Amino acid sequence: MAKIVLLNGPNLNLLGQREPELYGSHSLADIVALMQGFASDCGHQLTHLQSNAEHDLVDAVQQAGADGVDYIIINPAAFTHTSIVLRDALLAVAIPFVEVHLTNIQAREDFRQQSYFSDVAMGVVSGFGADSYLLGLQAIINNLDITDNSSSC
Ligand code: DQA
Repeated sequence: MAKIVLLNGPNLNLLGQREPELYGSHSLADIVALMQGFASDCGHQLTHLQSNAEHDLVDAVQQAGADGVDYIIINPAAFTHTSIVLRDALLAVAIPFVEVHLTNIQAREDFRQQSYFSDVAMGVVSGFGADSYLLGLQAIINNLDITDNSSSC
């Protein structure tokens, strides 16, 4: 069983109501439930935190390091474009992570095209709405299937 932590940054608690034409109609609770079902069907544990506060996300990354978490999936939201501190936390714990975005940030405003995470992520999934999260999880599970024969998905 792998331990996977899902982290979501500011304003993602408003998914479903927030600019639905951009971010879709699924609530964050819907997405988390889908992810937890998928992870558990594959024999893995997925825990989740959303916060509007940068320091909460940094603390969660540090805690993941202390807890021996295997992978992180993170949508840093607007912190994508600003947060050296969150990047440093991920580098400090050295947990492989997938960066996900609902929208294709490369096709949006110039300031969104800069990510402090992409160059140190395992990979980036951007632009597929809620499916970006599931595709990120699928990539991690595929990676586990290669590295861990006991994985069952
Ligand atoms: C986002 C893209 C960011 O630019 C934005 O600030 C968000 C959501 C996305 O998932 O598309 O809050 O990370």
